[in-house]
Amino acid sequence: MVKYEGAEHYLPGHEDLRSLREAARGCRGCDLYQDATQTVFGAGPADARLVMVGEVPGDREDRTGEPFVGPAGGLLDRAMEEAGIDRGTVYVTNAVKHFRFTPAERGKRRIHKKPSRSQIVACRPWLVAELSAVTPEVVVCLGATAAQALLGPEFRVSTQRGELLDPLGEELAAAPRVLATAHPSSVLRAPEEDREQAYRQLVTDLHEVARAL
Ligand code: URA
Ligand code: SF4
Repeated sequence: MVKYEGAEHYLPGHEDLRSLREAARGCRGCDLYQDATQTVFGAGPADARLVMVGEVPGDREDRTGEPFVGPAGGLLDRAMEEAGIDRGTVYVTNAVKHFRFTPAERGKRRIHKKPSRSQIVACRPWLVAELSAVTPEVVVCLGATAAQALLGPEFRVSTQRGELLDPLGEELAAAPRVLATAHPSSVLRAPEEDREQAYRQLVTDLHEVARAL
């Protein structure tokens, strides 16, 4: 079995966003680079005051190389707009930067799979480096994977969502406040009768974010 050492080894000497993005293209810090098409790094202004962190790229993101451009991204854009947040001002990224999926038949959409704890830990240096480069005021964790990457494995989105939490630790150049909320895909997957309520709750949480900026 090949032993993977995590992303740390692939970090460039210069930690500006452009160098980070370039270096991440060649990351082999875990097994996920093997089957995915490309690294999907974060995107958005380098001086964004708000960073949104998702889980892992999906099928569309894997093909285009951009985060949140598929169905979940569409829903997120709509929710941000309703909350008064302009996506053009937000830096959007993922906790894990290569698509993890269950293979599908040719031509079919490949189904995303949740990254493992070890893949989340392996990829974390990229996320920490992005946050250090952007130095946002607020970080939004979209769902449990992002929350656990930044707030630890004990964190429960179900009980602590929508609360502005204390600044993140010393590891980062700046100390942004954090808020965790549901992942937009969980809204899309909710049973039809619950979907509107799940969406409203996401918008409510994002309103809280807009107020904090
Ligand atoms: N889901 C995510 O977590 N991230 C994306 O970029 C797309 C879908
Ligand atoms: Fe590197 Fe992250 Fe991709 Fe794994 S998922 S190869 S750690 S960029």
